Amino acid sequence: MAVTAEKYKTAYDLIAEGASIKKKATFRSFDESTAEDWAAIITYNDEGTQTQVLDLCLEHLEKLKHPQPASPVDRYEHSLQTATRAWRDGRDDDDEIIVAALLHDIGDFFAPHNHGDFCASVLKPYVRPEVYWIVKHHELFQGYHFFHHYGVDRNVREKHRGHEFFESCRQFCDDYDQTAFDPNYNTMPLEAFMPALHRVLDKPKNDPFSAS
Ligand SMILES: [Fe+2]
Ligand SMILES: [Fe+2]
Repeated sequence: MAVTAEKYKTAYDLIAEGASIKKKATFRSFDESTAEDWAAIITYNDEGTQTQVLDLCLEHLEKLKHPQPASPVDRYEHSLQTATRAWRDGRDDDDEIIVAALLHDIGDFFAPHNHGDFCASVLKPYVRPEVYWIVKHHELFQGYHFFHHYGVDRNVREKHRGHEFFESCRQFCDDYDQTAFDPNYNTMPLEAFMPALHRVLDKPKNDPFSAS
């Protein structure tokens, strides 16, 4: 006798069918959970969680206003200036690059030694693989412009030479990130970038568990 896979109704099936959704899941462990539980969570939790992403990114961006007396500009000005330089380089129609330029340093307080990983992880569900890779590796690529002053090999980014996104990351760092420390630059205000932030961060477009 042929064995067929057991078919389960998913939480999404229940929601699509218009089934009555309970207000609160009742499981004590995931093993106990049911599609009805997850339908409740999707209906009453997930949407609320998603709406906080943009606000939290803006909170983190705001934290970059922390004074840095020894630096030419603080990291908030640097972030806006990076986005402005990308915008004026004709990337204004590339929302994902603009958002990456604006937010690429938001993890500087949580992960000062690998903040590229931090921001790349936040952006991963919302941007194409190229933009994720740029943000993830920008610290290393940026290093070409100053690592030698720390006695570190400035060419360490060369280990990625040949990668399909090498040139994109090099260009992002060389043209936007490393140039965005001019205290006299006419930087665009945050408001100018809000439409792009909404278009990118209001809804994920990728499977967050995909490999890249
Ligand atoms: Fe950075
Ligand atoms: Fe930066």
